Amino acid sequence: RSVTAFAPATVANVSCGFDILGFAIDAMGDTVEVVRSDSEKLRVVSIEGDGGKLPLEADKNTCAVAIQAMLEALQQKVGLDIYLKKGLPLGSGMGSSAASAVAALEATNRLLGNPFEKKDLLPFAIAAEKVACGAGHADNVAPSLLGGFVLIRDYHPLDVIKLPVPEGLYCTLLHPHYELKTADSRSVLRDQIPMKHATIQSGNVAGLIAGLYESDFELISRSLRDVIAEPYRAVLLPGFYEVREALKAAGALGMGISGSGPTLFALSQGKETAQAVAKAAEKIFKTIGLDLDVYFSEI
Ligand code: HSE
Repeated sequence: RSVTAFAPATVANVSCGFDILGFAIDAMGDTVEVVRSDSEKLRVVSIEGDGGKLPLEADKNTCAVAIQAMLEALQQKVGLDIYLKKGLPLGSGMGSSAASAVAALEATNRLLGNPFEKKDLLPFAIAAEKVACGAGHADNVAPSLLGGFVLIRDYHPLDVIKLPVPEGLYCTLLHPHYELKTADSRSVLRDQIPMKHATIQSGNVAGLIAGLYESDFELISRSLRDVIAEPYRAVLLPGFYEVREALKAAGALGMGISGSGPTLFALSQGKETAQAVAKAAEKIFKTIGLDLDVYFSEI
């Protein structure tokens, strides 16, 4: 009658892959318990760790919206009580809403006897992202659901591909203590991009993917560049370019905005470099005057 599931944090975009690339960070995430109830309704009973900020209403809560979409596809009415434990900070750029939706879907799927394969849960998680952030992007939900590094080649119809991850590729996450809503961070983006930017961006996405397949860290490093979202979003992130210089100097392959920010991510080859990058991040954020949490882990 009750199932609990965990879903991990994610880094979306990975610099050049706006809305099409993301990877999971397994060490952090959200946990959802779903319990069968006698009513035919979805009820969000409790949310821990959100400081009272997330909605309990079933049509606004990302767990309930995701489950509702799933039940509609099954043409079933099932009463469920939902208990959400947030391990991820809100508005952080670490895929917080995605992790909640994915954990809710995995728990419900198991409770109902696995009517869906994992990848078939994706559209329901995307429906929840639409409600949570105003855009149905899949670059957080897909890696949170499938793990590892994921490419969303197309949205219509969904075409999701798992990518290889070279051994020793580490991610350092820098989470400054302020919130940035995805909807706000998307509102500064342009609808149109110049042809020369489209060319640069495609080259970098292709380079990054080739680098992952070839375990070519130099190529990964050269490809971690974003000319279509980062320049507009950087203005929302105090000290962004100083941080970039400091992390590069500490040996990072590259860095960028994690999803829509304000968390930043850096990729490094090997644990020692990831550690040095974390230290450099602490130092530079102190200079900027921002409080920071730093995590690093192998991808
Ligand atoms: N691709 C999305 C964006 C990710 O950049 O807005 C949000 O986490």
